[in-house]
Parts: sequence; C-alpha cells; structure tokens
Amino acid sequence: MSIRHLRTDGRTTPLEVDSDHPRLSWTLDTLAPDALIDVSLIEARSGTTVWATRGLSADTTTVYYDGPPLPARTAYDWHVVTHDGDGAPTTYSTSFRTGMRGTWTAEWISRPRAPRFTSTGDELASPPLTELPRSWATMYNAPPLQLRRSIDLAAAPREATLYITSRGVYRATINGIRIGQDELTPGWTDYRQVIEYQAYDVTETLAAGANALAVEVADGWWSGYLGYNTRSHADQYGDRPELLAELHLTFADGSRRVIRTDGEWRENPGSRRVSDLLMGEYIDTAADTIGWMQSGYDDSGWQAVDVIERDDTTLRGQLADPVRIHTTLSPLTVTPLADGAAIVDIGQNISGRLRLRIRHAQRGDIIEIRHGERLTGEGQLYTANLRSAEARDIYVASGDAEEVFEPAFTFHGFQYAEIRGLRRPPEPSDVEAVVLSSITQRAGSLTTSHPLINRIAQNAWWSQVGNFLAVPTDCPQRDERLGWSADTQIFAPTALLSADVDAFLRRWVLELNAAQQPDGCVPDVAPVPPSSRNFDTGAPGWGDAAVLVPWSIYTASGDITFLRQQLPHMRAWVDYVRSANDGGLWTSRLGNNYGDWLSVDADTPRRVVAAAYQIRSVDTLVRALRHAGRAGEADDYEQYARHLRELFERELVDDEGRVLGDTQTGYCFALAWDLVHERRRPALAAHLARDVSSRGARLTTGFLGVALLCPTLARIGRGDLAVDLLLQEEYPSWGYSIRHGATTTWERWDGWTERTGFQTETMNSFNHYSFGSIVQWLYEGLAGITQNQDSVGYRSITISPLLDPRVEQLRAVVHSPRGEISVAWDLVEGWLEAVVPPTVEATIDLAGEVARLRPGVTRRSLAQVSTGH
Ligand code: BGC
Repeated sequence: MSIRHLRTDGRTTPLEVDSDHPRLSWTLDTLAPDALIDVSLIEARSGTTVWATRGLSADTTTVYYDGPPLPARTAYDWHVVTHDGDGAPTTYSTSFRTGMRGTWTAEWISRPRAPRFTSTGDELASPPLTELPRSWATMYNAPPLQLRRSIDLAAAPREATLYITSRGVYRATINGIRIGQDELTPGWTDYRQVIEYQAYDVTETLAAGANALAVEVADGWWSGYLGYNTRSHADQYGDRPELLAELHLTFADGSRRVIRTDGEWRENPGSRRVSDLLMGEYIDTAADTIGWMQSGYDDSGWQAVDVIERDDTTLRGQLADPVRIHTTLSPLTVTPLADGAAIVDIGQNISGRLRLRIRHAQRGDIIEIRHGERLTGEGQLYTANLRSAEARDIYVASGDAEEVFEPAFTFHGFQYAEIRGLRRPPEPSDVEAVVLSSITQRAGSLTTSHPLINRIAQNAWWSQVGNFLAVPTDCPQRDERLGWSADTQIFAPTALLSADVDAFLRRWVLELNAAQQPDGCVPDVAPVPPSSRNFDTGAPGWGDAAVLVPWSIYTASGDITFLRQQLPHMRAWVDYVRSANDGGLWTSRLGNNYGDWLSVDADTPRRVVAAAYQIRSVDTLVRALRHAGRAGEADDYEQYARHLRELFERELVDDEGRVLGDTQTGYCFALAWDLVHERRRPALAAHLARDVSSRGARLTTGFLGVALLCPTLARIGRGDLAVDLLLQEEYPSWGYSIRHGATTTWERWDGWTERTGFQTETMNSFNHYSFGSIVQWLYEGLAGITQNQDSVGYRSITISPLLDPRVEQLRAVVHSPRGEISVAWDLVEGWLEAVVPPTVEATIDLAGEVARLRPGVTRRSLAQVSTGH
C-alpha cells in the first residue's frame, strides 16, 4: 500500500460536500520519491471524467478540485493513480457526494409558541406527569421537540438521502431506526452565520407502504444554557429549537420525490422533559409516547407545527466529523454510601454520560445521577467546581423488569457519579460510561518505559478527547465549555500529533475567522456566545491564535492553499496590533490581557508577554508570506519584526541578560523565539537554568510559558533539567497532579494540594488541556522527531533524540502526510531504530553525530553514544 486515507474536504466518503473546490487529500506511505501521481474526478452515475490533473510529483498529498461547478446531490468517485519508477500504475479510489449547495426548499419547523405548558414547564393537557425535582435553573425548560411525519410510498425507493440539521441538537429516526451514529448534531458554530447539516443514506430504512420520519430536537447550544454569563444563560441564539430536513427519494423508474419539513409535520413532547448541555437530562417514562417513531402511530392528537421561513443563514455541509461515541468504559468501582446512594468511579475523567441498567425499580421511582470530577475527603461527590452547571440526570422509572437510562442531549465532564433512588445498589455491570468526542481517529503514539511520562501523555490525550467536542473547548464540566483561543493555540501542535484533527481544527479556524472584527481584532473565544460582550477585545497570546493555529495546521499538513486562504486573517491581526501601537511594542489595546495565565510563584510582566507574542506573530506571518511567495510583503514585516526585537532587548532585557520579571516564561520567550542577539543568549540561558535549578527543578510557567519550557531547556543544552521537570513529582508539576489522582490534565498546578486542598471553586477544572502542551515536546524533543526550519508536511526532518538514562525505552510514531515516521530505542540493550518513509528527507543527530538517513528502517547501535548508561 502506498497511498492511504483518501479524504474529501478532510472526511472519508462524505455525502454533503458543499465547497466549490473540494480538497482531495491522502497520506503517502511507501511511494518512491520519483513516482508520479494522477488524480481524476469521475461522475459516478455517468462515468464521465469531470476533471483530471496529471503528472503531480510524489510530494503531493493535497489537491483542490478546480474544474467546472459541481451540481448538488451528485455522486463522484475520484482516483489517485501512482506511477512508480517502472511506470506501472496503481489506482486508489474513494467517493463523495455533493451536498445541497444552496438548493434547500424546506422550512424550519418548531413547536408553536403559544404552548400547552404551565409556567413550570409541564404540559397542560398531558398524562399526569411525575413531579420532577426541578431546580431553579430547569424550572422553565421546555421538553425537547418530538416532530413526526408519516410518509406513504407506493414503492421502496432505489435511493434515499436525508439532509438534516437543527437549531438545537437532534436525533432522527425512520420507522424507529436511528439514523447515523452521530451525537449532538449539528454541533456548534456561530449559528447566526453558519449552520452545518448532515446527510445520511437512508435507503435501507424505507419500504413500500407507510413510513414514519420522527425527529427529536433539544435546546443544545442554540437555546440551552451556554457559557457562564449568568445574566443571559440560555436562549442565546433562539428561544426554542427548530428542525430543517429534506428527504430525497429516487425510485426505480427514475421518478423523484422530496419530503421536507413544512406544515405537514406534527409535534408533541414525550418522556424527555428537560435536556440541557449544562444542566442535564430529565426523563419521565410516564410521559412516554410509545411507538411515536413507528409508522402506525396515531398522531391526530398532536399539534400542528409552526413554520418559520428560512433566512439567509448559510447552511453548509459539515466540514469535520461530528461528535460520536468514542468508546465506552466499565467502572473501576461502585461504592455504596450509607444513605443508600452509590458512587461510581469510572477510573477516567471523560466527557460523556452514564448508561445505567435499572432493575428492581417500581413505577414512579425517581433515579438521579449527579456527576463530578473528584471526590471530597469524605468520599462524597465534589461538584462545587461545576459552578452553575448542574450536571444532573433524572429518570422516572416505568417499573419494567429491566430498563436502561441513558440521556441523549447532554454531556458531563466527570470521573465519578453519584446514583440515588435505586432500590438496590447497582452492580458494576449495570453501569457503563459513554465517552463522547469529535475525535474519530488517533494519529501518533508515544510510550516509554517510564510510567509517569506515559501517564502525562495519556492525561493530555484524554483531555483532548474530552475537549475536542464540536469545538475545541477549555473544559467540559463547568458552565463554560468555550472555544478559548489561547488554549487551542498552545495545544494545537500536540493535538495534531496525537489525533487526526486537521479537519476539526480547520473548521474551528473558520469560526475564528468569522468572529474576527473588521479592524482585525480577534476574540478570546470562538464562537462568541451572542450575549457575551467582553470576549472580543483581543489579548496577547489569545488573539494570536489567528496566526498560530493556521500555521500549526499548515506546518503539519503542508497545505499551502489553506495557508493562502488564512493570510488575510493573519495579516489583519498583526496589523491591528501594529496600528494600535504605532509600530512600537504592544502596550495598548491589550484586550483582557490575561498574561501567562495560571502561572505559579512567578508573575511574568504582561509587557513581556505582549511583546513576545507580538513578535512571534509577526515572525510567523513573515514565514507564511514567504511560503506563499509574497516576498515583498514579507520584507516589510521582517523589518517591523527587527525593529520590535530591538525594542524588546532595549526595554525588557537588562545588561546582565535579565528579562524583565526574571521568570522562566520570560526567558523561554526570549530564547525559544530568538528575541535577543545571539551573543546575549548564554546570559539568558544561565538565568533560566538557574531559576529552574534553584527551585529544585520546579516550574512556574502558566498556559503560555509551559509549552516552551522543556524545549528551551533542551535547546540551551540542559535536556537533563527538562527531564527533571518532566519526572518531577513534587508540587508544582505534572507528576504531582498524577500522584494525586489526575487522569486528565488539570487547569491549574494547584487544582488540589495537600496543603490547601481544592483551589477556589470559582475556577478549577480537572480537565483542561493547556498544560498538556508538553506532549509536543515528548514527540519533538524527547523522541526527537522534528521538522527542519521551513519544512512543512514533514518534507524534511531531523531525528535528534534526547537520550537520557532515565528514559530507558521509548517508542514514538508520528503520522505525517508522507507516511509514518517512528523512533524507538532501548538504552539497556543499546540500540535505536528509526523508520522514515521514502519521500521524507531525514537526518539523524545522535548526540552531535549527524548523518543522512535512508528511507526505511535504520538501526543504530548506541554503544558509542553517551547516554549516561
Ligand atoms: C478558561 C481558560 C481561558 C481563560 C482566559 C478561563 O476561564 O477556562 O481556559 O484561557 O479563562 O482567561
């Protein structure tokens, strides 16, 4: 196999490709460097070749379709043909379908506004409902919509595709069969501008005769609680969910029919009484509308829907995989409490929900599950850090011999759950944790003989799994869950190494673009919740995400077209800061100016943070412009950067080489980003090493400094100190949190300490990936797989492992677009092995001894290399 992972717009065989120039990409594997590649796009039905591009170099891993406009809802195959040295062709194929491309005719539908509900959210004319233990926050939540339509078909269709989305989050069924495996669709975008839709092939679900299309729609991000603006918590985009769908049918005789959302649909709430992302889900089986998803159901008592005209919101086929069930976990322990409740420990902090099998319940029993990340010293669930997120699921039992309680339209960030209201404590086998994530495919991997390093990497991985959910969020548990830009910026390189999140991050970048203001200012979060006012002021390290995240995506993928598309946004941000500061150092328009957020025992002056990021963004823009072939503009910005460096040195570094504030983060900025003259580096390096050593190998860095610390130490020749920090188990360190039970990366070094217990409940997440950005260094510094200056898409790399006697064995694999690159070593046995694919130029640097690496497997003896062994 020499080509794998053929993707269209970043996805495998998508059915809703809406872009004018779909991106066709693949992963190379063992292709010879002199091979040639042809790509052709063929209309599936007619077999006509629509477009072809031939004789591409073996370097190519992405092309953009640039042929004639593609019509809506049409199937295409595309092929990559490789011609190896001897010219023999090998063909690799995949397919996609175009999406609606603006041809929607359906209308949004919803429950009529004059509802049949009392002020407490109960239906006026409904079966006697159970009195649910509603909180103040959920008092007025209306139940999710249940929308249905019967469809009579003279014959089964030859082909049927459902195009569907909601304002809110939905689940669709046809004849009781759930459509797709996706969760919380359509995810979260700035709904005022763009709503993504999904397409599903539903041919198999329909038959001649009566059929039923039934869809539930809950509040989700649209009208549910969102973020932490307590004055305007819910109803951010609208005050009730809405559905939009078109079912396209083609019959054997070639005739077509479209069923759409319109006034023909009927609505009636069912057993889900409250479904909210932050508050949880309440199910009352007494309100079940049994059989409503089936065709025979009598919905004559249901109400007619409200029809809402379509506005000009863009409806776009999804650009990245939706949230899905990532995995399910069995609990480690189930511990009964004295008061009849039980505490479940699933052994891993996750985002998701519990699936609980209930036996021995009687009709009307109320079962309640609350979720938390930690336990108190007394073994009780700790929930204070969730702030206003109630994370509480409630189920009123039907009394059936066995029933399963699993919410659909909420998720919680938790490791522990408290279950109340069961007549007997649950058996471990009654409980499953369902992990939700947008991550569908892992990429690289890194394991060592040192359990602590492995756990650090694993914690960052689980934080990524839990927080890459529709958008990259800061944390999944409290009333926040926002797409914080610095967090993403810092973590993006790690994220791209660990999982196939290229498409996911590109989609978020579109959100960031959309949120950028006309003057170039970039907000702190994307999407910005409509009611928030204070996120849009552009802060050092936060607004810079507009430059740095696209750059990370570009360097990993090598996709120059993407970079070109981003250039205006990158430039606008750099110009925004430049013009606000008269071309000088960044001291005005600092936005929320968070500084080196959550550093400990050292405060890096905000002037230093701002200046460093300012230069970093300009430098990155210069490189981007050069790659895009815009040398003239690059020269201008390069001169600007030179000027800023002079100012940095003059104003922020003293004669002894002390960076203002004398903090690790300050030195890391200056050394890692080359902010001072070469001749001054030794002095700064000495200060950095002194600070780390004098604290007994302890760090002080916050969100912005942390990713640079180990790489900078290694670069100044103090890899030993970097490994000291990595293996540190005393406070503050990754190891300290792990020693105290961390299964994901914590938001704060002092989230919990022996001395002070839990940090303030106003801001203390145990699942925040920012400090997990160390993992980038595990791949690039410890394992030593780095791209050379100006290499993108792993065209040219150096393998320079940090051979420290404390890391006896290691194996790291990087999934590059040119195939897998790996390094493994065993210091005890004295060997190192590197694997490099053919189209990657590689050099190996073993403790200063440099050699070219041939493609394939290279094994080296470490007998001559000083590893301290
Ligand atoms: C978020 C962070 C974010 C920060 C900025 C916090 O509330 O959780 O991740 O970067 O605010 O101040």
